[in-house]
Amino acid sequence: MPLPAWLEERLLQAGGSVPFRTYMEWVLNDPEHGAYGAGRLSIGPRGDFATAPSLGPEFAALLAPQIAQWLQDLPQERLSLVETGPGEGSLAAQLAEALAAGWPQLAERLELVLVEPNAGMAARQRQRLAGSPLPLRWSSFEEMAAAPLTGVVLAHEVLDALAVGRIERSGDHWRRQQVTLQQGTLRLEPGDPLEPEDEARLEPLGLLPLDSRRPEGWCSELHPGLAPWLAACAAALARGRLLVIDYALEARRYYAPQRSNGTLMAYRAQRASSDPLLEPGHWDLTAHLCVESVLEAAEAAGWSCLGQRRQGEALLALGLAQRLHGLQQPAPSAVRASGSPGSDGLAALLARREALLRLVDPAALGDFRWLAFSRGEVVSALASGAELFLQEPDPGT
Ligand SMILES: C[S@@+](CC[C@H](N)C(=O)[O-])C[C@H]1O[C@@H](n2cnc3c(N)ncnc32)[C@H](O)[C@@H]1O
Repeated sequence: MPLPAWLEERLLQAGGSVPFRTYMEWVLNDPEHGAYGAGRLSIGPRGDFATAPSLGPEFAALLAPQIAQWLQDLPQERLSLVETGPGEGSLAAQLAEALAAGWPQLAERLELVLVEPNAGMAARQRQRLAGSPLPLRWSSFEEMAAAPLTGVVLAHEVLDALAVGRIERSGDHWRRQQVTLQQGTLRLEPGDPLEPEDEARLEPLGLLPLDSRRPEGWCSELHPGLAPWLAACAAALARGRLLVIDYALEARRYYAPQRSNGTLMAYRAQRASSDPLLEPGHWDLTAHLCVESVLEAAEAAGWSCLGQRRQGEALLALGLAQRLHGLQQPAPSAVRASGSPGSDGLAALLARREALLRLVDPAALGDFRWLAFSRGEVVSALASGAELFLQEPDPGT
């Protein structure tokens, strides 16, 4: 695909070169040309990429008791469940259904709030959520900060969509990587050296002092969007919890010398590429989170960390094994008069089992990280054991 005219024009206006972070922001979120901004990306096994809720309702069904527990702990009449970056709206819709069915009294006090800056995605969410059993509205953290809410905020695969900065070793410096226009094509190039305040962050991440283990051209990502996002989210919530679920690695793995091209990946039509310059505005771009960077930014924004767990373990603690066991037999309604399950019933059962197994597969979604934070709560509430997902699964199962 030739370089799109809009991007060429923007780059020329910017003097022929922009920091990688600006490029990523444009190609994902530009309202007219961005992959999310224009609502171009579709999420699901038949779309551009799959996420846990796009595999079916199992993920939301397992998460619902944790959300309900947290909401019930909050001493407030009106409560909000906020989902940020809802994508197709699947998780919000599935959770609304699960909470209304399983916790009707709680659901009567609950509203659903969706935070989606990309109009193209919000339009699809409106369609998906038509008929939601909970009252719902779209808002922004800035609007909410005018009258901060009490409730739970979910951030499922959204922080990995925030535009990252890329750093590259060049000579004796870490330099900010740039996207540059050269004779009508895009190139990645080292730009200016990092400013001293950014360089100061590299030592705790193991990236300074520079040595031969990270040679010329070695590159990775920094996450300058995290701190403002966590601060805005904190200002929107007077009291309650935040659950971040995403790809995340500890700094020692994230910035390991052998990971010489960072974690940035592009996805389109179930294909993956490590080239972020492919068909700009048509591919999803995503980078893992660095656990220490999230924890530090969250603490600075006033969040208390309640704990973290890998998704596979979290879902087992929430009853995944029992759910899987329950799917060994077709439900009576799926068994035909002849006494054997119809092929539709069997196919649905197998699909649900497969979805559950994918959620815990350590080589895939099971390696996701769940990080829970709290704000505005008294300490005794934090010690109440309400973090169901941090508990050990029942050994009998
Ligand atoms: C990878 S999709 C995740 C979708 C959904 N949570 C899921 O798991 O299926 C990222 C979503 O975050 C949205 N998004 C991007 N930047 C955002 C921001 N700063 N705040 C909230 N949502 C954002 C995108 O438009 C998109 O809806």
